[in-house]
Amino acid sequence: MNDAGLAQLVCPTCRGRLAQNGGSLDCRQCRASWAVEAGLPRLYRESTVRGTDRLMRVFYDGLPSLHDPLTRHLLPLLEAGGSEAALRDGYMKRIDLAALAPRAGGLPLRILEIGVGAGANLPLLQRDLPRGIAAAIWGLDLSVGMLRQCQRRLRTWTGAPVHLLAGDAHALPFADGAFDRVFHVGAMGSFRDGRRVLAEMTRVAAPGTPIVVVDEQLDPGRAHRLHHRAAFRLLTFYDPSPHCPVELLPPGVTDVLEEAISRFYYCLSFRAPPPTR
Ligand SMILES: C[S@@+](CC[C@H](N)C(=O)[O-])C[C@H]1O[C@@H](n2cnc3c(N)ncnc32)[C@H](O)[C@@H]1O
Repeated sequence: MNDAGLAQLVCPTCRGRLAQNGGSLDCRQCRASWAVEAGLPRLYRESTVRGTDRLMRVFYDGLPSLHDPLTRHLLPLLEAGGSEAALRDGYMKRIDLAALAPRAGGLPLRILEIGVGAGANLPLLQRDLPRGIAAAIWGLDLSVGMLRQCQRRLRTWTGAPVHLLAGDAHALPFADGAFDRVFHVGAMGSFRDGRRVLAEMTRVAAPGTPIVVVDEQLDPGRAHRLHHRAAFRLLTFYDPSPHCPVELLPPGVTDVLEEAISRFYYCLSFRAPPPTR
């Protein structure tokens, strides 16, 4: 990790600054040591990963190369309509990269995807980033298998710098207000504590920043046949009540918008609280 990348990270336990120390990142405050393996900092403690997070990681680590093809081909079949492209465009417009203004001093804009997976959103981020403005993308994931798949994708990548790291959405290793866009697609319903993840996403977003969360919910505005319901149940077997978690949003967020972007997926967008005067 280069110096600019390192400067963005903090210790996930105490939020102290990190310093490179050979093959690890060491916290200057609590002295915790975090391994870096084959270019991937591991900024979470295995002992804190529990419940559905641990269960779902077995699937992601087991089949990382199948995730993107299944999303592209199987999902439209299960939904009996729509396409991956239409689904993804449905939330990209809420991430609204086109509205990004340059940062003071020519510093790069900072985009964070939580649960980056194999990186299927990276080409869309690159497509929508305003031309001529420096930007850096951060991809955090709990599954090292998915991150390795993403590293393979990045071998031929020519877009904005991408920094990958292993971390847990429940304890993000970033300082308060560190990002200009924050989003997550696909695991909200399996997070062991969705309220905490939404609070973390809001904490690391700069004041007023758009934040976007996408996951499964049967579109309440449509009729569903038995096969739709059966396919949806199969897809969300780990979640007793898959729904848009608007009730878990932290206090002070603004511009809350809940939308169905396909038969099976909601998009929840909101903004981090505005700056205090
Ligand atoms: C359905 S995949 C979506 C991947 C990618 N966002 C996409 O749109 O193709 C969900 C991702 O979230 C990750 N994930 C699940 N629980 C997580 C957690 N607690 N912290 C960070 N990432 C997590 C999984 O490992 C997986 O890569």
